[in-house]
Amino acid sequence: MCGIVGYVGSATPSGRPLEVVIEGLRRLEYRGYDSAGVALVAPGEPLAVAKKAGKLANLVEELDARPLPAATAAIGHTRWATHGGPTDTNAHPHVSGKVAVIHNGIVENFAELRDELAAAGAVFVSQTDTEVVAHLLARAYDELGDLTTAMQQVAGRLDGTFTLLAVHADRPGLVVGARHDSPLVVGLGQGENFLGSDVAAFIAHTRDAMELGQDQVVSITADEVAVTDFAGRPAQAKRFVVDWDARAAEKGGFRSFMDKEIHDEPQAVADTLLGRTDRAGRLTLDEVRIDESVLRAVDKIVVVACGTAAYAGHVAKYAIEHWCRIPVEVELAHEFRYRDPVVDERTLVVAISQSGETMDTLMAVRHAREQGSRVLAIVNTHGSTIPRESDAVLYTHAGPEVAVASTKAFLAQITAAYLLGLYLAELRGNMFHDEVAAILDELRAVPGKIQQVIDRSGRVQEVARWMADTPTVLFLGRHVGYPVAMEGALKLKELAYIHAEGFPAGELKHGPIALIEPGQPVFVVVPSPRGRDALHSKVVSNIQEIRARGARTLVIAEDGDEAVLPYADEVFWVPQTPTLLAPLVTVVPLQIFACELATAKGLDVDQPRNLAKSVTVE
Ligand code: M6R
Repeated sequence: MCGIVGYVGSATPSGRPLEVVIEGLRRLEYRGYDSAGVALVAPGEPLAVAKKAGKLANLVEELDARPLPAATAAIGHTRWATHGGPTDTNAHPHVSGKVAVIHNGIVENFAELRDELAAAGAVFVSQTDTEVVAHLLARAYDELGDLTTAMQQVAGRLDGTFTLLAVHADRPGLVVGARHDSPLVVGLGQGENFLGSDVAAFIAHTRDAMELGQDQVVSITADEVAVTDFAGRPAQAKRFVVDWDARAAEKGGFRSFMDKEIHDEPQAVADTLLGRTDRAGRLTLDEVRIDESVLRAVDKIVVVACGTAAYAGHVAKYAIEHWCRIPVEVELAHEFRYRDPVVDERTLVVAISQSGETMDTLMAVRHAREQGSRVLAIVNTHGSTIPRESDAVLYTHAGPEVAVASTKAFLAQITAAYLLGLYLAELRGNMFHDEVAAILDELRAVPGKIQQVIDRSGRVQEVARWMADTPTVLFLGRHVGYPVAMEGALKLKELAYIHAEGFPAGELKHGPIALIEPGQPVFVVVPSPRGRDALHSKVVSNIQEIRARGARTLVIAEDGDEAVLPYADEVFWVPQTPTLLAPLVTVVPLQIFACELATAKGLDVDQPRNLAKSVTVE
């Protein structure tokens, strides 16, 4: 959840290490913004540390008021608090003697280690689990005289999850890192090297990167990168080139990253579709390196994911079951692992994650593989952990998603899931090639339709601004409209802090209709009238039922669907789209609504309270 940056440059102290680290933290702030801090080292100088509770801006203000000296290496941290509240003292780096440490993750055996260290005379000033690491490292360095071997020794003593970076005042040209179940990537520069929780930390300086493996220690100097395992044996890390540039991670003139990322959606879907067919137009999905005979024998698919990614999984269920006739279960990853799920070697587990780092999803992946299932990951972030631990990966090409609330990644996840469904359908003989090709053509038309929804969003924004004081909003949908309703409700909760619920419209009469009172706003996602007749007419009846009880009905309907007009207080029109593909367009007005309403309330839509972009603790 925390963001981590490390940098080593030339042997002459300068302002660059601090600049690079602060810029990296700015790009990683989406990972957590409870506090921020930096530690700098320079030849012959004592450690220089600054840290401040709250957003990075507070740290920058502190650095302006009390500037730090020039340096040769630096580490920086932006925190999502786990152990110990978001205070200046609990902010990272934590210092012991000449060592400063930053940490992402949780040290589960910290209480036992703290008792041991306290008995040996260590004095603790914070409530964090991380401080034990600072003391352990300082002691190991004093004994071994080498920061890399000290890190190897300490990493081997820790339980839980961690990425650690450390500097030592006597080693001003060195940053040492370790990773276990938390992300860490290396950026390879010319006469300088970088470390980051993800590539955004250093993308402004280099696109050459190296993905560290599980249980590895890395030491960077200005000219060298050395990787070992925790036992000190040389180890291999995988090199890759980042396929987007720094501009993709900038706001580009939009009010917020979220606003920008909604505008990126047509491109995100188009890019996710790119390069997935051969010359004959046949879906190839080269990344799915699971033997075709295994895929033909699959008798069940289980999607594991959390939050928005899980709603993408729900959409995938409708499409894959319809196209492939394979039963699909969708399970929140944190529930999956703890309920003894019935999965085996004939189950294909599909893990969906924007970050590729969500700990609940990673644990579900591991559990599934232990049971003999093959795991296919649908992930947006290259170099992340979930793809590395899966049998195959279908990358979404949404580009970097910085706003904490997921938008374009959701659309890209759904798109990738459609591709998987169509690929399996053809492979298993459920669909003919021309049927698959016709759906692919429809999919290729979707980016243009999303653009139309964005271009017409003036009315939905106006309505959102009027509704800034609304205490509660309900969302209804049926079939693929149901996960869209749940996603609409989640966006409103997390961005505008408004109570919101998404229901299957058919469930209304079984209880939720009691919530309807005069003026209650209810969004209804209406299926295409060109799809299943009964589906459309049932939802139109649901609108009548709530309208009759005084609800204010906000209807999302397909262009030309006049049947909704008599019962809708507002209609937000979307272009005609085949039923199964419709979530790619119907969710967009709901994202825009939540973004606009939260903005009207004066809230920070990119960094909503209490949240972090990637949830790397269980
Ligand atoms: O990185 P992931 O896709 O695995 O993240 C899953 C959820 O934590 C994420 O979708 C979360 O629900 C977002 N805040 C939704 O906007």
